[in-house]
Amino acid sequence: MSDQTQQMPRPRDGVMDIAAYVPGKSGTKGGGKVHKLSSNESPLGPSASAQAAYGACAANLHLYPDGSATDLRDALAQLHGINPANIVCGAGSDELLSLLASGFLQPGDEAIYTEHGFLVYPIVIKASGALPVVVPETNMTADVDAILKAVTPRTRMVFLANPNNPTGTYVRFDEVKRLHAGLPRDCLLVLDAAYAEYVSRNDYESGIELVSQSRNVVMTRTFSKAYGLAGLRLGWAYCPPNVADVLNRIRGPFNVAMPSIAAGVAAVQDTAHLARAVQHNDEWLPRMTAELEAIGLQVTPSVGNFVLVGFAGGEGRSAAEADAFLSARNIVVRRMDAYGLPQCLRISIGDADGCQALIGALRAFMDQGS
Ligand SMILES: Cc1ncc(COP(=O)(O)O)c(C=O)c1O
Repeated sequence: MSDQTQQMPRPRDGVMDIAAYVPGKSGTKGGGKVHKLSSNESPLGPSASAQAAYGACAANLHLYPDGSATDLRDALAQLHGINPANIVCGAGSDELLSLLASGFLQPGDEAIYTEHGFLVYPIVIKASGALPVVVPETNMTADVDAILKAVTPRTRMVFLANPNNPTGTYVRFDEVKRLHAGLPRDCLLVLDAAYAEYVSRNDYESGIELVSQSRNVVMTRTFSKAYGLAGLRLGWAYCPPNVADVLNRIRGPFNVAMPSIAAGVAAVQDTAHLARAVQHNDEWLPRMTAELEAIGLQVTPSVGNFVLVGFAGGEGRSAAEADAFLSARNIVVRRMDAYGLPQCLRISIGDADGCQALIGALRAFMDQGS
């Protein structure tokens, strides 16, 4: 007879292979002002009107939210010139990525993501019982030919962060279209455009056009970055009707909180605040890149609100030592070991003080011992 005390519920196959996502550190041990440059949050904070809309919900918290997030979908549809019926909102784009995987993947399926792709993808793929297939990148950038080469009859999904986190690189729209054209029609292409608001390249498109013309492309977006609402957990997906139908069947009936819907609507309407966030990034991203290169660090060209910074390695020159040096000066950045980039740090574009503090500290780090 089996020992009953040893028995316990067993998770589905694959779950215990998942490495839990490790978020950016939120502080340092000492006191004083901390420059948190570890999670690509907006240094401008939330729009004042979003804060007011959030606060105005306080007296109504006993009521369920509108389970369809109608006002938010309408506001987004108006902003982007798309049909609100094809928008599904979620508690962060993370929730939508998870719902897409659980709606479209099952054991035996394969799902592709790229070498330095966002680490939520392997989590949601494995949680669905499917097999993650990791494809090499070229120059820290997703390589369309390599992705297409990895497609097999079992491939059901391709996740492409565009721009990608943590590299900051992007895939041109003509290349995204070539990728889509080469995929089987029953394979869902997920264009994760979390940083789209920051990109002002003529050859970039977030995915709206492709979603509008296809049944196997979905674009995910977030309020966590340029909109400065990471704490609310708010994201949305623009989907063909067949994909929206699946997401609406499996999502929680009230998956987006009332204050999130209200603040989201106000944020969408506060176009001046968004423009200020983008303008700040347009000023500091090239400045940070140039300053760090000038002190001998390698910076991957980024179109996001962060930079991937490469260290030479070796004693006194490693990313781990730089991280400790910054941390001791109340500057928090992101280690990249989990992304297979142990000699890199990912550094968000902070406010002017944060950027200057970071540049000064890294200059001091590079100066020691030289
Ligand atoms: C590429 C990418 N996708 C999705 C997300 C998740 O965003 P959210 O806060 O909407 O869940 C992030 C956040 O870091 C990201 O970098």
